[in-house]
Amino acid sequence: MQAKPEQLPATLDECRRCELWRNATQPVGGQGARHAKLMLVGEQPGDQEDRAGKPFVGPAGELLDDALAAAGIDRRQVYITNAVKHFKWELRGKRRMHKTPAQKEVAACHYWLEAELQSVAPRVVVALGATALKSVLQSPAVALKDYLGQPVERDGRWIIATYHPAYALRVPGSEARAAARQAIIDALLAAERLL
Ligand code: URA
Repeated sequence: MQAKPEQLPATLDECRRCELWRNATQPVGGQGARHAKLMLVGEQPGDQEDRAGKPFVGPAGELLDDALAAAGIDRRQVYITNAVKHFKWELRGKRRMHKTPAQKEVAACHYWLEAELQSVAPRVVVALGATALKSVLQSPAVALKDYLGQPVERDGRWIIATYHPAYALRVPGSEARAAARQAIIDALLAAERLL
């Protein structure tokens, strides 16, 4: 079936609002407390999440778990999801490598993020990286650097932007990696203070 951005699917499995379903194993919806006060939003599932059907279970998830533990937050008390629910990838050698979702895919998938925001109704949302921030603010032009660690209030809830955990794993230089990891912890601590 062709993608139809105007489609209003009842379930993620039925979603054809963009083309990403074609190459993904399955959609990956959010996971966690159904009425969590804190929601974390990532970019899109990675290779391991695509296979497991759960968000943040791979290497970026491990870093996120460490950051949550360092901030004294129990992962089971938060709701964790992604701006885009299908893994976008390209084959390099034998590996499925992450490809950043296009803005039209982020916009198509905002349908699902909005449904999660309505149903979970978090008081604070932590946007992990630029794609999450653009989707949460519904503003494709925003730059992560302008929002890093600075809470903004939108639609009655606080939004805090920080680095994506994968950035904290990959950025060159051990000092830069440690700083990015600390920035994620600081954003989680700031989120806790706002609750
Ligand atoms: N990166 C993300 O943005 N989300 C995941 O679920 C895993 C890796």
